[in-house]
Amino acid sequence: EKGGYEHYMLKEIFEQPEAIRNATRGRIDADQGTAVLSGLALSPRELVDFHRLLIVGCGTSLNAGLVGEYAVEDFAAMLGEVEQAAEFRYRNPIVGSKDLVVAISQSGETADTLAAVREAINKGAMVAGLVNVVGSTIAREAGRGIYLHAGPEISVASTKAFTCQVSVLLSIALKLARGRRMSLEEGQRIANEILRVPDLVQQVLEKNDEIAKVAENFVKFDNMFYIGRGYMFPVALEGALKIKEISYIHAEAYNAAELKHGPIALLEENMPVVALMNKGPGKEKTVGNVEECRARKAPVLGVITEGDDEAREACDWVIEIPECPHYTATIVATTALQLFSYHVARLRGCPIDQPRNLAKSVTVE
Ligand code: F6R
Repeated sequence: EKGGYEHYMLKEIFEQPEAIRNATRGRIDADQGTAVLSGLALSPRELVDFHRLLIVGCGTSLNAGLVGEYAVEDFAAMLGEVEQAAEFRYRNPIVGSKDLVVAISQSGETADTLAAVREAINKGAMVAGLVNVVGSTIAREAGRGIYLHAGPEISVASTKAFTCQVSVLLSIALKLARGRRMSLEEGQRIANEILRVPDLVQQVLEKNDEIAKVAENFVKFDNMFYIGRGYMFPVALEGALKIKEISYIHAEAYNAAELKHGPIALLEENMPVVALMNKGPGKEKTVGNVEECRARKAPVLGVITEGDDEAREACDWVIEIPECPHYTATIVATTALQLFSYHVARLRGCPIDQPRNLAKSVTVE
């Protein structure tokens, strides 16, 4: 049932091109440069009237939500906010009828996310679930919903759910943008970029052996940093979460600018840094940060754009990803980091599909 793969996690990583195709099938209208999201059922008036897209979730779903926040501000010039579901529900949050709330949950059963859904509904917000498991509690209780169609995710560490969640969040942001301000031409450009993603992810999967080789260099470390800017910051968060969960290496993610405000004190030869330095806004600055890391003897693995010699030269090791805009690179680069985490954990002999202390769905607070 693992389809010839050694672990469900690897199988699910490799399923991503197909899963993302399923998550976006019929939802991206390249001609009209927009997204068709019938589960949201938003009228043209509603598209304009919302003041804010508020996203709630936990763990990997929370990291996907951060990409959603950035995308809605970037595409739609609309206020976006993401909040950890438990923090949201216990803060007496300011939320109401001008908010579109999207609750993200692979399982649809996460207790804190479910409580956030109930809280937002009570306060009069329109709530949509972005859920993978059909018929789950969040899918039933949220007034509206979009199913991920990622297929079953068995491995405790979430992989294809994240990349599908981000694909759908980009679609939601595109839909809001086109309803508010974005030109047809710009919408078509973004729609076509979203449609390219499965092929780009496939190209990363073809580097599996190469990534496994790079991973060999990391087996011995106890700590790691992940850094990225802008859209690459949520990727750093998700990269660090994945390596913690499955390889038990302690990892912290920072937006690269934050390094010099404290964490830099920890840099030395036993503190490797994974830097998201693929081409896009902020890349040059991240390259600068990498040089600062190396000056303090920290070894650096760069995720770089294919053929970017400047970025390559700044690093000890690189994983190359195909050129794409940063908003879709969130998916492409995350795929590379999933494989990286997988191989580090495998080489450390960890129980990849069932990490200690973790369960697939967290139905208690
Ligand atoms: C990470 C992971 C967890 C879940 C989190 C939320 O690999 O699996 O962090 O993402 O528990 O779960 P869902 O999305 O089911 O609400």
